[in-house]
Amino acid sequence: MAQVIIPLDVPSLDEAMGLVDSLGEATDCYKVGLELFTSAGPAAVQALKERDKRVFLDLKLHDIPNTVARAVGRARDLEVDLLTLHATGGRRMMEAAAEAAGDDLTLLGVTVLTSMTSSDVEDSWGRVVDSLEEEVVRLARLARESGVGGVVASVREAAPIRSALGGDLVVVTPGIRLAGDDAHDQARVSTPAEAVAAGADYLVIGRSITQAPDPAEALRRVYEEMAGASPVGTA
Ligand code: C5P
Repeated sequence: MAQVIIPLDVPSLDEAMGLVDSLGEATDCYKVGLELFTSAGPAAVQALKERDKRVFLDLKLHDIPNTVARAVGRARDLEVDLLTLHATGGRRMMEAAAEAAGDDLTLLGVTVLTSMTSSDVEDSWGRVVDSLEEEVVRLARLARESGVGGVVASVREAAPIRSALGGDLVVVTPGIRLAGDDAHDQARVSTPAEAVAAGADYLVIGRSITQAPDPAEALRRVYEEMAGASPVGTA
């Protein structure tokens, strides 16, 4: 069964832990991203570990191999469970990171951000992109060949990744919205049921839960919707 990861995209440790404590046992995995890590640092990871939560550190590393490998080593010291790096950082960067990660830290290669459209990608990469799906699968393959254990992609690319690369790669999908919710800055959005049907392992669901009037109730709706969906091939 796919699991939900809630991003703690808030400015302070107090607000982050307020949200975690209000959701109680409803989920056991939280994402510490750029905003919270910049404001609270490793204390955010430690506070989650003290509450027996799993930690997804979403720093989207992209630098020279030595620098990335050293940062991965420090995340490992913090007992982070999942850590992102950009697959576009290249094979040597990802191989160095994989060596530093060891067995307990799962690295996730970010393929193409869910906020980007084909024309955004063409603009950044300076070439025609006929199929965003093919680019995502290509980057996912590069990540896997480099020893990275999982990838981040939109729900639309989750099933193509699975069919091209098999079931052992961890697939994490952000860009999830409950029906009727605002997409905000995301471009490639899908519902929780679509994510489960596409075979995602983890659904990162932020504003649909954290900005709901009652986050615990929004999370309950997400679980209900997920329970009604079956992964491809099991229905
Ligand atoms: O609020 P929302 O559900 O859009 O939040 C999505 C979260 O997932 C954000 O914290 C964002 O940084 C993260 N993320 C993403 N796309 C990726 C990787 C991570 O939206 N490719």
